[in-house]
Amino acid sequence: MQRISLWLTTAVVAAAAVLGARALVAQDAGAQKDSLQVPDGLAFAEFGGYESWQVISVSQTDDMLKAILGNPAMIEAYKAGAPANGKVFPDGARMAKLMWTPKRLPDFPSRVAVPDTLAHIDFMVKDSKRFAATAGWGYAQFDYHPESDTFTPLGTGAACGAACHKIVAAKDSVFTGYAKR
Ligand code: HEM
Repeated sequence: MQRISLWLTTAVVAAAAVLGARALVAQDAGAQKDSLQVPDGLAFAEFGGYESWQVISVSQTDDMLKAILGNPAMIEAYKAGAPANGKVFPDGARMAKLMWTPKRLPDFPSRVAVPDTLAHIDFMVKDSKRFAATAGWGYAQFDYHPESDTFTPLGTGAACGAACHKIVAAKDSVFTGYAKR
């Protein structure tokens, strides 16, 4: 009897340790994101809550599946017709572009591409004063490492996308349109 209760106590303690460790890892991943900053650039925490922002649209290249999300200020501006109505996006508008490597949906015979591993997150934030040199937008990219469940910032500064996004200067530097829903 004594041996059984000793065994039970050990099992309970071991299970608690595993759960505790898992919680710590999950907490670490979240905390890791919040402590990240692009040198001389934007902090990951400036985009807190991005995980639950609304979808603006999706896009796909040969090697990436992407979802573009916007915070409420960005979504409201789109719904009001920006940038087609000649209006620019307001200060405080933020976007996140989540990028995954694609895989084939395993349970279905014909080809359906679905997200496999998260690869990068691209962020944009509108602040006309702070980013006057880059048409009012600040840019930041964070690369994801699944093996360690961590992110690392790309490069330095907040202008990584400015040169290319100039192509759509007439649309306030935003390529993506608000997909009909
Ligand atoms: C590394 C810094 C960069 C960041 C943080 C960034 C950020 C973003 C974000 C948030 C979007 C979605 C909103 C939109 O459509 O404008 C986007 C889309 C886009 N960006 Fe950038 N960008 C970066 C660099 C670049 C560069 C260097 C190019 C061109 C070579 C580029 C070309 C595009 C294109 C074509 C789209 C629309 C298609 C798509 O969904 O991917 N970006 N970018």
